[in-house]
Amino acid sequence: MLRARIIATGSYVPDRVVTNRDLEKTIDTTDEWITERTGIRERRIAAASQASSDLAFEAAQRALKQAHLKPKDIDLVIVATCTPDMAFPSTACFLQDRLGIKHSGAFDINAACSGFVYGLHLASSLIRTEAHKRILLVGAEVLSRVTDWEDRTPCVLFGDGAGAVIIEGTKEKRGIISTHIQADGGLSELIMLPGGGTRTPCSKDMLLKRLQYIKMKGNETFKVAVRTLEELAARTIHDNGLDPSQLSLLIPHQANLRIIQATAKRLNLPEEKVFVNIEKYGNTSAASIPIALDEAVHAGRVKDGDHILLEAFGGGLTWASALLRW
Ligand code: UT7
Repeated sequence: MLRARIIATGSYVPDRVVTNRDLEKTIDTTDEWITERTGIRERRIAAASQASSDLAFEAAQRALKQAHLKPKDIDLVIVATCTPDMAFPSTACFLQDRLGIKHSGAFDINAACSGFVYGLHLASSLIRTEAHKRILLVGAEVLSRVTDWEDRTPCVLFGDGAGAVIIEGTKEKRGIISTHIQADGGLSELIMLPGGGTRTPCSKDMLLKRLQYIKMKGNETFKVAVRTLEELAARTIHDNGLDPSQLSLLIPHQANLRIIQATAKRLNLPEEKVFVNIEKYGNTSAASIPIALDEAVHAGRVKDGDHILLEAFGGGLTWASALLRW
C-alpha cells in the first residue's frame, strides 16, 4: 500500500520583531493582557518588499536543501494561503517561477488557518493515487497587510511567516496515516476579510469602512475552536485505533495558548507532548503548523516511529486534522 510521507521540512520568518511592549505604544493594550489572553509575546512582520511568495520561497528552499533535492524534482507546487500576493496568478505560480520549476502544476488553496492541513489531505490523496510523485506544499502568510493596526483585538494576534514540506510516496508503514477536513460555512461571519473580493470590491467606501482588514468575533470564535478541536483531536486518535497516551507530539495551530491547553487537557497530554511556539510568532494562519513542525524536527522532538497529531482551525469556519507516523 502506497502512503504519502513528509520527507523534509523548512520554514522562514521575517527578521522584524514586534513585541507586545511595542504595541503598547500604538494601541490601548498591555503586554500583560496579550500574554494572559493569548500566550503571544512577539510576532514577526514582513518587510514592505516581501509578499507571501517571497516568504514561501525561503521556506521551500530550506525544505529542498534538507531533502537534498533540486526544484526540478518537484512535480506539483501547492501553496496554502489566505493572503496571496494577488487574486491571480496564484502565489504558487510565483513561487514555482522563483524556484525555476518549469514542468509542474501550481495552484493555491484557501482554507484560512486550516489551509496547510487541508493541503496535506489533498497532497496525500494525489500521492497515494500516483497522480503526482513529489509535492511541495507550503503554508505562507503576510497577515500584517490585512491586519487593522488600529483595531486592538485582532492586531495583537497575527504575524507573518511560511513553512514548507516535501511529500512523496512510501511503501513503509509510516507517513500520513489519516487526514480529516471539515467546514461550516454557516459560521463564516465569525472571522472574515470582507473587502476587496467580488462581494465588496475595492472602493473608496470600502476603504473608509476599513473592510480591507480582518474582522473577527474573537470570543465566539474562541468557543467554537475549543469545542471543535477537542472533539476532532479525540476522534482522530480514536478512529486510528490509538489511545491518546500513544501520541508522541501534538502540533496544534497556534491561534491562542488557551485553546491549545484545552485540547491538551482533553487528551490528558503532558506539556512536553504539546508543541507551542505562539509566544514568538503569534497566529501565522496557514503557516503556523508547518513552521511548528519544522521547529519540532530541528529541536529533535520528532523521531522515527512517533505518532504526531496536527490539528487546525480557522476562517470558513474550517477545521482539519492529520495523524502522522514519522
Ligand atoms: O486562527 C483562527 C482562529 N482564531 C481564533 O481561534 C481566535 C479565537 N479568539 C481568541 O483568541 C480570543 O477571543 C481573543 C484573544 C481574540 C480575545 O480574548 P477574549 O478572552 O475572548 O476577550 P474578549 O474579546 O471577550 O474581551 C475581553 C475584554 C474586553 O473588555 P471588557 O468589555 O471586558 O471591558 C475587550 O474590550 O478585553 C478587552 N480587549 C483588550 N484589552 C486589552 C480586547 N482586546 C484587547 C487588547 N488589549 N488587545
